Amino acid sequence: MKTLSTLINQNREWAAIVKAQDPEFFLKLSSQQTPEYLWIGCSDSRVPANQITGLMPGEIFVHRNVANIVVHTDFNCLSVIQYAVNILKVKHIILCGHYGCGGVRAALGNRQLGLIDNWLRHIKDVYSKYEVSLAEIADNETQLNRLCELNVIEQVYNICHTTIVQEAWSTGQELSVHGWIYGIEDGLIEDLNICITNQSEIDPIYHMASSQRVQRRSQ
Ligand code: CO
Repeated sequence: MKTLSTLINQNREWAAIVKAQDPEFFLKLSSQQTPEYLWIGCSDSRVPANQITGLMPGEIFVHRNVANIVVHTDFNCLSVIQYAVNILKVKHIILCGHYGCGGVRAALGNRQLGLIDNWLRHIKDVYSKYEVSLAEIADNETQLNRLCELNVIEQVYNICHTTIVQEAWSTGQELSVHGWIYGIEDGLIEDLNICITNQSEIDPIYHMASSQRVQRRSQ
């Protein structure tokens, strides 16, 4: 039987290092978690939420799926948002996309990949919505990266319109929704200047963000 002994060994080493720095670390975490952030990002192995934000276990609640999509009928994602907002009372929801996203790239093409094509339909919808402005971009990579940004903006919009976030805002709960994008080539997160803290901010920020070319690599 093959085992993944390397990973288990690495885990032992990691736990020992953490414990050496703070002997109570795991004990404290075992009783509760009080993360301030909910991260919704892509499943891509190159975009690990904790590592790229420098956060420890217990500091960020995470949901990842292919191409960081938030759909109103996805009870997996909605349950994560609900638990994070209602129970954990996170103060920030971060929707973080990334440049060069394989899911977005696949949605731009016509190759059939199987079941996942149904999931990626949501990105094709984003493409259709911005088809005119995207068609003006001649370079394929630039167009892809612009669609990655637009996808972030659209998913932030979707988060803001979930019943969970709407209810939180209506009861005065402190909650901000942020749109970020990560560069795999340089390891840097770019804030797309989307930070929505209440109902009235949704439309102005949404329209501003989606009409601007915010993508740094196309400039
Ligand atoms: Co991706």
